[in-house]
Amino acid sequence: MNWLAVVLLLVVAAAVVLRWRRPAWYWMSFGVTLAVVRVLFRYASVMDACGLTVPPPRWRLTLARLTNRPVPRPRAPRVLRVRPTRTGLALKLKLRPGQDAFDVAASCDRLRHSFAMYGVTSRELRSGVVEVRMTGYDVLKRVQMPAKTDTRPMRVPVALREDGAVHYRDYRAVPHALTIGATESGKSVYQRNLVAGLAPMNVALVGIDCKQGVELFPLARRFSALADNPDTAADLLDALVSYMEDVYQLIRAEQRITSDVPDAEIASDIWDLPAGLRPVPVVVMVDEVAELALFATKAEEKRRDQIITALARLAQLGRAAGIYLEVCGQRFGSELGKGITMLRAQLTGRTAHRVNDESSANMAFADIAPDAVLAAIQIPTDMPGVAITGDATGGWARIRAPHTSLRQAVNTCNRYADLTPDLPALAPFRPVLGIPAPKDAPAVESIPATV
Ligand SMILES: Nc1ncnc2c1ncn2[C@@H]1O[C@H](COP(=O)(O)OP(=O)(O)OP(=O)(O)O)[C@@H](O)[C@H]1O
Ligand SMILES: [Mg+2]
Repeated sequence: MNWLAVVLLLVVAAAVVLRWRRPAWYWMSFGVTLAVVRVLFRYASVMDACGLTVPPPRWRLTLARLTNRPVPRPRAPRVLRVRPTRTGLALKLKLRPGQDAFDVAASCDRLRHSFAMYGVTSRELRSGVVEVRMTGYDVLKRVQMPAKTDTRPMRVPVALREDGAVHYRDYRAVPHALTIGATESGKSVYQRNLVAGLAPMNVALVGIDCKQGVELFPLARRFSALADNPDTAADLLDALVSYMEDVYQLIRAEQRITSDVPDAEIASDIWDLPAGLRPVPVVVMVDEVAELALFATKAEEKRRDQIITALARLAQLGRAAGIYLEVCGQRFGSELGKGITMLRAQLTGRTAHRVNDESSANMAFADIAPDAVLAAIQIPTDMPGVAITGDATGGWARIRAPHTSLRQAVNTCNRYADLTPDLPALAPFRPVLGIPAPKDAPAVESIPATV
């Protein structure tokens, strides 16, 4: 008996410690079973209390009256499936006549409290069927990506959503994207995750990092071309535009439209070309984009116009040539001059890290998901990396990328360095490897060491 009490005490203590220190392990060991039992036991009464039941149909009332049986109770949506996940539970519900998906969405907060879960979201799977996703703990606090993700070419599992699902950056579905956020909000870490995710894929990486290359140059071994200042960036973008024109010439040459070529085989982008002929897709990473649009002199203004025109052309025409843009910056609005809003309109994927004012959030979401604007301003300063991501369908979600350190990203890029394609068109911009020679007399003074 004593032994039993000791073992029980140890199990309870282990559960408490795990829940406090390692919520993910607690969920997989104890939490999931307790939550399934709790949800199944309380389901009918919670749905009733949350207003998610409908009165029984008339024929059942009549039948009960005729057979002198008790009046049937109101009915909750039928549970089609309860699926435990790595981070919570997923319930598939069949709605009763008269209910709609909005009823469930509007009750999510009440369901969260009633089932004692950390978060509850819902989405319509098909007409009359809704999925309710519950999370058992704050999955964004310490992001752990699942070991197995659904990887496809040009699709990077880059972050975790607050409902526990993986957020993918899919370049073929959303070719160009804009990421904005205040300083120290996590933009570069997000971009670093993308680079690390793309490194093992058959893709050419091109980087423009106007912070003198501090973010992207350490990853140089996996980059086919890099620019660390606006002058080089202007030349690099021009070279990319002519590369794009060459790719279109290749596609034209391969089209050979004759009456006996089936419709589905006519190539209109690089993915329709035979694998042996297909040019390698190119992802262009731009960090601190505003630096490219600022100017102080007449000559710089000319360079700025050249850069913005090249970026706008790549955004408008690049997709079919397999050129994808990933643009990051603190702000990206019309105050940066002409051509910016036109370029922004082409960047379909939108992600906003913490921003300090509504107008910055508006730059990302006002034209696609207005209610995401409020969510972006509410991200707390002590959660760098948390972001709101929207898409052209009007939906949005809160996400956070794992904290990949520069060292981890460098290791990944070095491991896959032999996959770096040599694009002759971009050869002059191929980064020179090795430690850069120090300038003769750096005008930087170090902090004196304290003893
Ligand atoms: N996903 C994350 N999880 C945990 N910490 C993060 C995450 N992303 C960023 N951080 C923390 O925030 C710090 C700043 O991140 P980052 O350099 O990406 O910001 P930034 O938005 O690029 O800033 P800046 O505009 O000044 O370049 C990082 O050093 C890191 O400590
Ligand atoms: Mg940065």
